[in-house]
Formats: sequence, structure tokens, C-alpha cells
Amino acid sequence: MCLGLVCIGLYPFLLLALLMFFMCVYDADINVFVRSLWGKPIESLSGKVVWITGASSGIGEHIAYQLASVGCKLVLSARRKEELERVKQTCLMTNRGTLSDDDILVLPLDIIKFESHKSAVKQVLDHFKKIDILINNAGRFQQAWWTDIDLEVDRHIFELNVLGPVSLTQAVLPHMIERKAGQIAVMSSLAGITAAPGSRSYCGSKHALHGYYDVLRFELCAHNIDVTIICPGPVKSELLTNAVTGKKEEPLKNHSKIFRKQMSTERCAYLSCLAIANRMYEVWISIPPFVLFTFGMTYLATFSKWMCTTPCIRRFFNLPKRK
Ligand SMILES: NC(=O)c1ccc[n+]([C@@H]2O[C@H](COP(=O)([O-])OP(=O)(O)OC[C@H]3O[C@@H](n4cnc5c(N)ncnc54)[C@H](OP(=O)(O)O)[C@@H]3O)[C@@H](O)[C@H]2O)c1
Repeated sequence: MCLGLVCIGLYPFLLLALLMFFMCVYDADINVFVRSLWGKPIESLSGKVVWITGASSGIGEHIAYQLASVGCKLVLSARRKEELERVKQTCLMTNRGTLSDDDILVLPLDIIKFESHKSAVKQVLDHFKKIDILINNAGRFQQAWWTDIDLEVDRHIFELNVLGPVSLTQAVLPHMIERKAGQIAVMSSLAGITAAPGSRSYCGSKHALHGYYDVLRFELCAHNIDVTIICPGPVKSELLTNAVTGKKEEPLKNHSKIFRKQMSTERCAYLSCLAIANRMYEVWISIPPFVLFTFGMTYLATFSKWMCTTPCIRRFFNLPKRK
């Protein structure tokens, strides 16, 4: 009897240990793993019109290849038109025949020119007559210590990472609400859930996305519109090359030392598309152990915040010891 009770009492610990072991070996949260086995495949998105911002490089570029390979019609946006044309040609080759030139629209767009968003939506609707999914992916990283950052940098990062997606989403929503169908995806980051020392503007901007888009999901599910927030850890891309420091337009040097290991862009794009196909609410994607770290910071919040003051963690992040 006593032994039975001890065994029952051990179950939660065993489950937690199993979950933690899973997070030490798999490169996404358990929800994504389950959907990868029993959920809808990416092919279920075939024929949908998907608008991707930040499609000229990195994660956005590879999301375009994934979606083109399953027959989605695409709108590719970013500032560099020639790069978007290159991505379009690769998409057409990846698809091997079912997509024609007209099925991929290159639409150059500067996401911080908010006044251009309504006319961009009109161009997409004139071309495809509908928008099924908007993927707000364009963004920029920032790295400098808190006290060295000009407020101008915060303003720039917030305009690009937060207000740009918010404004474009607002321009697309009347169409989705009228059709009573649609999906908004937004590329956040694990830095949108936990604190990332040395990246206050980036971290703050990604946290803000959760506030905006969680409210949107709450308000819009009655219109059959879902919101998917994607939170990757370190991924290979041009993000660090294009990063800003504490001064506006000062490029980040020595960025190759920031992350020793990164997830491949293809894998991040695949898992992001899987989350979109399954209309998931929020997903965490990263090489181990960042998902485990994020889990600890979220569910053991007070303990983790105390840990951040301890010498070993501060040494890990290259921060001075607490006096
Ligand atoms: N890589 C990572 O480790 C990582 C981790 C977590 C989250 N993320 C997020 O993933 C998203 C994509 O980043 P990435 O890693 O793929 O980096 P990336 O290769 O630098 O891609 C950034 C994209 O954003 C576009 N962009 C930048 N400024 C823009 C503007 N003003 N208007 C329109 N488009 C603009 C860029 O295109 P143009 O220069 O042609 O405009 C580019 O296509 C970002 O939101 C980033 O925060 C990345």
C-alpha cells in the first residue's frame, strides 16, 4: 500500500524528468513534435495564398521554398527587389511545374513605411483576389549593453519589429474578416519570452509582439481567423550581419562569436510551416537546450530570476559579478 502511494507520488516527477529529457534532445516544444507525427502535413496548405514579409533572405526565404514546394501561391516582400526575384526563381524551380510565373508575386515593401501598407494589400488583392495567410517575418536584431543604447535605436527596432507587422496586419484584416477566414503568423523569438542580456531593444520588441498578437487571437477567433506566434532560438541567417548596436546604423562587429551553434534555416522554416499548417497558437523552436532554458524561465520564474544573479550564470553571459 505504502509502496503503491510512493510510486503514484513519483509519477509527476518521472513525467517532468521525461519532459526535460525530451527538451534536451529535440529541437522544438512537445506540441510541435506531436503535430509532426499526427498533425496536418504542410501539403495541406497547397493552393493557399501566402504573403511572406522578409522573404529576401534567411527564415523568410526558406519558408517561401517550403511553401512553394507544396503548391502555395506566394507574395514575396522585403526591400531588396533583386533578392526577391532570385527567391522567386528558386521557388519556381523547387515547385517543378505546378506553379506558374503569375503564382508568385514579387512586391517590394519597406515595412516601416506604414502609409504604403493599404496600397500593398490592394495590389495583392488585385492580383490574387484573396489572402489566406500573412506571415509577418521581417525583422532586425540589436546588440549592445543597456546603458550604451540610444533611444533612437529602440524606436527603430520597435517600428520595424512591432509597429510594421501591426500596421500590415491591420491593413489585411478587413479582407480576412469579410471572408471569415484567414491566418496571421508572426515571427517572434525565444527572446520574446525570456530575457536576453545585451539585446534590450530586440528582446523588448519581441515581447511586445506577444501582447499585440495574443490580444488579436482573443478578439478574432469568432471570425475564424487564427494567430500563430513562432519563437525560434538561434538560426543561421543574415540576422547577425544586419544587426544594429546601440547607435543607429552602427553595424555589429564580431557577430560570429555570439552563437556557437545555430539551427539550420531549412529546419526552422519546416517547423514554422508545420505550426502554420496546424494553426498552432505558439511554438518554441530551437537547438537544445534553449527550449528547456525557456521552459525553466517561464514555469520556474522566480527561481530562474534568482539564478540570473548567481556567479555561474553571470559568467556564462559574460556579465560582472553582483557586488
Ligand atoms: N536568425 C535567428 O537566429 C532568429 C531567431 C529568432 C527570431 N528570428 C526572427 O526571424 C525573422 C527573420 O530573420 P532572419 O533570421 O531570417 O534574418 P535575415 O536573414 O536578416 O532576414 C530579415 C528579413 O527582413 C527583411 N527586412 C529588414 N528590414 C526590412 C524593412 N524595413 N522592410 C521590409 N523588410 C525588411 C530583410 O529584407 P531586406 O533587407 O531586403 O528588406 C530580410 O528579408 C526576424 O523577425 C527575426 O527577428 C530570427
